[in-house]
Amino acid sequence: MSEPAAREQWKSGAGFVLATIGCAAGLGNIWRFSYVAGENGGGAFLLIYVVCVLLLGLPLMLAELSIGRRAQSDVVESFGGADKRRCWPLAGWLMAIASFVLLSYYAVIAGWAYKYFAAYLIGAPSGLASGEFSAYFAAFVADPVEPLVWQFLVVASTVAVIIGGVKRGIEAVNRVLMPLLGAIVVLLAAYALSLEGAGAGIAFLFRPDWSALAHPSVYLAALGQAFFSLGIGAGALLTYGSYTAAGQKLAPAALGVVAGDTMFAVIAGIAIFPAVFAFGLDPAQGPTLAFVTLPEVFNVLPAGRFFAVAFFVLLGLGALTSAVSLLEVPCAVLMRELRWTRQKTALLTGAGVFALGVPSALGFGVLQGIGILGLGILESIDRIASSVILPVGGLLIAVFVGWKWPYTDALRTAGLEAGVVGYLWRLLLRYVAPCLIVFILVGLATA
Ligand code: PHE
Repeated sequence: MSEPAAREQWKSGAGFVLATIGCAAGLGNIWRFSYVAGENGGGAFLLIYVVCVLLLGLPLMLAELSIGRRAQSDVVESFGGADKRRCWPLAGWLMAIASFVLLSYYAVIAGWAYKYFAAYLIGAPSGLASGEFSAYFAAFVADPVEPLVWQFLVVASTVAVIIGGVKRGIEAVNRVLMPLLGAIVVLLAAYALSLEGAGAGIAFLFRPDWSALAHPSVYLAALGQAFFSLGIGAGALLTYGSYTAAGQKLAPAALGVVAGDTMFAVIAGIAIFPAVFAFGLDPAQGPTLAFVTLPEVFNVLPAGRFFAVAFFVLLGLGALTSAVSLLEVPCAVLMRELRWTRQKTALLTGAGVFALGVPSALGFGVLQGIGILGLGILESIDRIASSVILPVGGLLIAVFVGWKWPYTDALRTAGLEAGVVGYLWRLLLRYVAPCLIVFILVGLATA
């Protein structure tokens, strides 16, 4: 057997940071953040969310990147390391499966964004009267074919980027898209702020309603959202970390990604809530906020169609860069395990992701009524993936770095000094993160 080719790497540190922001910023920051914040009291939620991001998100992101950095390999081998007989490789497999399952329904929602982008571009929904958007959305998702077409396009575009490889696919696409998406979200927010009555939306997002803090569900929602939005626990950060060169400083990169992702969510909130409030709509609309409530807003907004096209480009392409990071996780494992080419791996894994996502895509029509806890198929899988599997992934990462790695080795890989910051990192990983994660899981089980 010939020697395997040298492992791929990022071309530059900036490319790595942009790709990692691309992994973090996606549907979670725009579609999910806005509706979860809307349902959980706005400002109070934001406050707890930021605490979760700092206390849990930042140390775990650094830990996940470091695991890949040190092993220079995919999720399975990174956790497997020297002791293959132990159960740690199972942690790697769990993450490879988690990213695969997550992507299966993520691609369905991303497909809705692609569809709305195309529809607004040709002008279709602009002709609807106020109040008709809910029926428009319901008819679209209940169709037995159309959602599959858009889901297919998302998976196909994701596969195309993966086939391009680490430098010429993932890094190149993120280098172009992330600055562009940053500009679009800032422009949308500036436009929303100029609307009459925008103040109520801003107040909702930034003025904490302290009574919301009495509901335990707000804390659970904030923790779950932090994992999902930062992209922790599915192995995507680990895999991206494994493509960094030895000199890459991980700690400042993690800080930049966490700051970038949080700013992205907050600025998206500034773009969304003022418009919702200015038109007297309900911010606690749930998952249909982006697809039903916002179109109602775009309908009456000056230059609303332009706003809509920009918004759905943002949503669709933001989702694409996250989908790419999710698909790279199982692909990296399979390329090494089976010695397949990148192209073959991406095509076959993409086909599997598409097939697994079909029930999620059809769960609003032909397959309606199937699911758990009274939720549909897509929401059932989302609930399990984001509230159970990602936190379990995060727990494994915290235990692996906090307890299994020698302290000095972990610090050296992460690029931290042995001083207060390193000590704090270790403390958060060893005690705080595991306790908080177990608290979420127990809380969910009893909710
Ligand atoms: N962080 C992505 C988002 O906010 C989703 C994601 C989750 C990506 C887990 C990678 C890993 O949309």
